[in-house]
Amino acid sequence: MQSTTTQPEELTSAFRQAISHFSTGVAVITTRTPEGPAGMTASAVASLSIDPLQLLVCIRTDLPTRAAIEEAGRFAVNVLGDGHEQLARHFATPRPDKFAGVEIRDDYDIPVLDDAIAHFVCNVAAALPGGDHTIIIGDVVGCDHVAGADPLVYYSRSFLGLCKPSAHARHAYELHLELMM
Ligand SMILES: Cc1cc2nc3c(=O)[nH]c(=O)nc-3n(C[C@H](O)[C@H](O)[C@H](O)COP(=O)(O)O)c2cc1C
Repeated sequence: MQSTTTQPEELTSAFRQAISHFSTGVAVITTRTPEGPAGMTASAVASLSIDPLQLLVCIRTDLPTRAAIEEAGRFAVNVLGDGHEQLARHFATPRPDKFAGVEIRDDYDIPVLDDAIAHFVCNVAAALPGGDHTIIIGDVVGCDHVAGADPLVYYSRSFLGLCKPSAHARHAYELHLELMM
């Protein structure tokens, strides 16, 4: 995308590097269109308010999913779990049939991924300009989660899992047993 400001290229590059050190979870934002479901991977997701219950997602304004969300007036945030890197990459790549082979729950009027470890169904409350992105605020009308599920983490442009000392200790112990046998 062509920059419309005079910010120096080095500052943009330094910003990209620095902000990549802010680790996030990974979500797939889904919505519906008259032609079928639409969705995209997003990490710019945040809890916003408890009363009313609101969250926000930041989506590049020129993306088709952004337009689809505003047209539908409704979207879902699907939080991806550890091991769902492939799903994250799939929904970050523009293609006409993103939902082919993807399992969807049918208990909402909006597509919700079967594999999500948590989901939030939202009505669009506001869409505010945010530079080359649009800040979409959603009123949460439904949500659920899978207790104990580990998240997919995005850090420094890589997909990672949570580093759990107990899991490492178990792995080291199992390795030790293997070597003893
Ligand atoms: C880990 C990850 C996080 C992303 N987060 C965002 C985001 O928060 N907002 C955004 O606009 N694009 C984000 N993207 C890029 C979009 O997923 C990508 O542009 C996608 O093609 C948009 O789908 P669409 O073209 O079908 O609308 C992210 C990509 C990845 C891999």
